[in-house]
Amino acid sequence: MARRKKIYEGKAKILYEGPDPNTVIQYFKDDATAFNGVKHDIIAGKGVLNNRISAHLMTKLEGIGIPTHFIRSINMREQLVRSVEIIPIEVVVRNVAAGSLCKRLGLKEGELLFKPLVEYYYKKDELGDPLVGEDHIVTFGWADPYELEAIETMAWRVNDYLSGLFSGIGLTLVDFKLEFGRIWGEYGELYLVLADEISPDNCRLWDSKTKEKLDKDRFRQDLGDLVEGYQFIAERLGLIPEGGILKGGDLNEKVLQSLDQIENELAEKRKLKGITQPKIRK
Ligand SMILES: Nc1ncnc2c1ncn2[C@@H]1O[C@H](COP(=O)(O)OP(=O)(O)OP(=O)(O)O)[C@@H](O)[C@H]1O
Ligand SMILES: [Mg+2]
Repeated sequence: MARRKKIYEGKAKILYEGPDPNTVIQYFKDDATAFNGVKHDIIAGKGVLNNRISAHLMTKLEGIGIPTHFIRSINMREQLVRSVEIIPIEVVVRNVAAGSLCKRLGLKEGELLFKPLVEYYYKKDELGDPLVGEDHIVTFGWADPYELEAIETMAWRVNDYLSGLFSGIGLTLVDFKLEFGRIWGEYGELYLVLADEISPDNCRLWDSKTKEKLDKDRFRQDLGDLVEGYQFIAERLGLIPEGGILKGGDLNEKVLQSLDQIENELAEKRKLKGITQPKIRK
């Protein structure tokens, strides 16, 4: 079979050319990295779970009117997404103190923040993705003030929605990272959409009762089986059958079986109608 052209290979995903120029295929790898690539391992089953969880959350967010790049799942490791121009900013939303926030400001991990905090990091691996302010973003032309306003509004909405969704299944959304991208319409109008992935690789999710960490911190801090934590999240979301933690091939098979065709078809139908969100500027 002729292989598609690879556009980019990152730490967690590979991007291939899609069937038409406005689309790309995201392939979810089993590679786990932390500390800007210093720690690296291959963890069987991770890519499949992230693909499934991200497709599910993106579809849910579309359902509440947040435009995303997601078109449909292709198979258990790949999804078709709109090709976007990625805004070089990582948008981090925090509800509870953890990770670099604790290190930087001397906070105790687990402290509930007085209100959700939105932070921006410049996406530049060579510089270790430094924390930046809104003025940096505008001054250096990474995004303009209109885009920033739209990004912040969407980030708050995503947080409200996902915090509620996870709290309903006994999980606390401690923090997460979003990426946004630009798409131009037929008349040159600009749309912003949520891009990349939303998965336990870039969300901190704790069991609300026990505070057990179920996300990538298991890998960063050697807390235990990463895939076990990710499966637990997928199970609570209803994406894989309950009970019995599976490994490698068995896990792939189960996730494949549970791929929800209706969800995909609905997402595709919506996309065929075009993006219905208001444009942010001409
Ligand atoms: N819809 C999209 N169109 C174009 N690029 C995208 C889209 N969604 C995500 N990307 C980009 O594809 C790459 C995904 O790969 P991966 O997550 O492996 O990157 P990474 O190693 O984490 O590197 P980075 O620091 O660039 O995120 C990221 O650079 C991301 O910004
Ligand atoms: Mg990434």
